[in-house]
Amino acid sequence: MTMGPTAGPLPASSMPATSLNVPSASSSLNGLQPFIKDCPHGGTNMDLDLVKEGTTLLEVPRSSSYTFQGRYAPFKAPVFYNPRMEFSRDLSVMALRVFVKERKPPISICDPLAGLGARGIRYANEVQNVKSVMGDLNADAIPLILKNADLNGVSSKVEVFEKDANLLLAESSEPGKRHDFIDIDPFGTPVHFLSSAVRAVKNKGILAVTATDTAPLCGVHPRACIRKYASVPLRTEYCHETALRIMIGSVVMEALKHDFGTEVLLSYSVDHYLRAFTRLTLGARRGDRAAADAGFLLHCPSCGWREKIKLNAAFDPKCSTCGGSVSRAGPLWCGQLSDPSFLDKMLNEDRSLFNTSRRIEKFLRIVREECEMPISFYVIDNLSSSLKRDVPPIKKVIESLKAKGHKATLTHFHPKAIKTTAPISDIKSAIRGI
Ligand SMILES: C[S@@+](CC[C@H](N)C(=O)[O-])C[C@H]1O[C@@H](n2cnc3c(N)ncnc32)[C@H](O)[C@@H]1O
Ligand SMILES: [Zn+2]
Repeated sequence: MTMGPTAGPLPASSMPATSLNVPSASSSLNGLQPFIKDCPHGGTNMDLDLVKEGTTLLEVPRSSSYTFQGRYAPFKAPVFYNPRMEFSRDLSVMALRVFVKERKPPISICDPLAGLGARGIRYANEVQNVKSVMGDLNADAIPLILKNADLNGVSSKVEVFEKDANLLLAESSEPGKRHDFIDIDPFGTPVHFLSSAVRAVKNKGILAVTATDTAPLCGVHPRACIRKYASVPLRTEYCHETALRIMIGSVVMEALKHDFGTEVLLSYSVDHYLRAFTRLTLGARRGDRAAADAGFLLHCPSCGWREKIKLNAAFDPKCSTCGGSVSRAGPLWCGQLSDPSFLDKMLNEDRSLFNTSRRIEKFLRIVREECEMPISFYVIDNLSSSLKRDVPPIKKVIESLKAKGHKATLTHFHPKAIKTTAPISDIKSAIRGI
């Protein structure tokens, strides 16, 4: 049977009934089993659809029952599920598949803000040698996670807790109980969970983080960004990159407190959210190296000049190009946004079974191209309009810059923007010359 977003979800009742595994005696869920059996929805008091993400079946809140202005609204549902995040979950499955190849099994993952278990269950089902610990504070989520685990035959690979995420992570912070991969996928900002996540991750483990509070991070609400991230955002054409760098910076700073150095394996900004996969490795020197990649971004609103500076560097508040007043964003991450060798491995992973495979293909190729490019990007439409020129084809701008000896690529951040090693004056000349 074909299912998934293109085929449309099926009501759960149209699927064959499956037996529900009894949680293990050691599980915290013993008390839930009788409740699940007695309930017509298998322990969930809501209308459900059945969808397929990757090779995983998921019972999710029925899209026609929880709506706002005629459309499915995840926040109206008793348990959170956002189909728009399937791309994020597909990429996460791929990143975890790459990661497990370099670790000794079994791989322990923790999804402490699990919702109905879409991430934790997919990891257990679609990645070899993985055990998932999932948690959610919403009591309605727990039976649905269990039901979804059973539906995919992975009940023996999961543990589920109705618990605050910080508490669940704190309980894994002892050596021997830590996780190889922790996925922080909250409502809004991840900052409330970073301290306990860093304590609960194993050496050389992965901490994956999502942020959906893009308005503060992009400088629409700068005071909220300063409060949450202790960082000043900047409202520029490349604000989504600054936002991502501020979010990564908050992970790096938290890791430094525990003598962890941070490498960014993959990070991106798409749709309404930011996401980063970071590898934390113990060692004060590694920490020093990560700290050396933290800094500030200087930007001249008058002429568009921009430059990164180190955390402890002095700066001239006057633009060296036009003499205008320079704005400063940060502290933020100024290092690479993705690791080329990690991306090469992701590109080698099979993605044919994902509903988002075509998008993943295009996305990974652009991210691979741009990952060694300098900080920030230029929106060609904006530059053309400031020069009162027609907008040239973006590929021609890239070719022209390359012909002058610069590097230039597309960027996943914006369909009409480029990243380049060229100064802004050369980009303007290229536009004028086309
Ligand atoms: C964005 S949703 C998670 C979505 C899920 N990861 C997915 O991909 O479908 C955030 C979840 O965190 C839960 N939550 C919010 N605050 C929490 C807390 N302090 N501890 C545990 N769970 C929490 C919410 O009930 C919600 O299910
Ligand atoms: Zn200037």
